[in-house]
Amino acid sequence: MKILVAYMSQTGNTKKVAEAIYREIQADKEIKALKELDGLEGHDLYFVGFPMHAFGPAHAAKVFLENHAAGKDIVLFITHASHEDSELIQEWLGNCRAAAVGGNVIDTFHCQGELSEQVAEMLKKSDDPQMVAWAEQRSETLGQPDAARLERARVFARDTMKQYSG
Ligand SMILES: Cc1cc2nc3c(=O)[nH]c(=O)nc-3n(C[C@H](O)[C@H](O)[C@H](O)COP(=O)(O)O)c2cc1C
Repeated sequence: MKILVAYMSQTGNTKKVAEAIYREIQADKEIKALKELDGLEGHDLYFVGFPMHAFGPAHAAKVFLENHAAGKDIVLFITHASHEDSELIQEWLGNCRAAAVGGNVIDTFHCQGELSEQVAEMLKKSDDPQMVAWAEQRSETLGQPDAARLERARVFARDTMKQYSG
């Protein structure tokens, strides 16, 4: 079985999750940045990761999934600045899954990631009060994804692989 872990990450959070997932996979495996890929070919299962941007997948990931997910078995992993328990997350995750048009989305992992200082400064200037509120709560995101969240990602990868192979 051949597995590809593909990710985009502007500030490194999703990359940490990608690497945790990749290390846990016991199979013929590759890890690639999304921008290195022309499409999804030659693997049985694709773990595709990206940050949440404006209540849905980051633009480059959205376009990539819309163009390349069809007919593929896909597992999504996503980082976002909000706490995992936030009421809005499920709707945003739905937006992420919807981008994988025609794909078979087997499962989705998500966790909090640090909001970088640079991004917080940018969001503070937004017209959207929700964006400004996140920027002001940056301190609550510092250090994420932490060791516990990366461990959750590893358990997720292990369980997903077990189910997929079984
Ligand atoms: C333009 C932009 C929009 C964002 N929108 C959201 C959002 O809608 N919800 C959220 O929880 N976090 C949002 N974030 C925060 C990122 O999703 C979060 O910091 C993520 O962990 C970044 O991942 P990365 O380090 O892999 O780029 C946004 C960040 C940026 C730059």
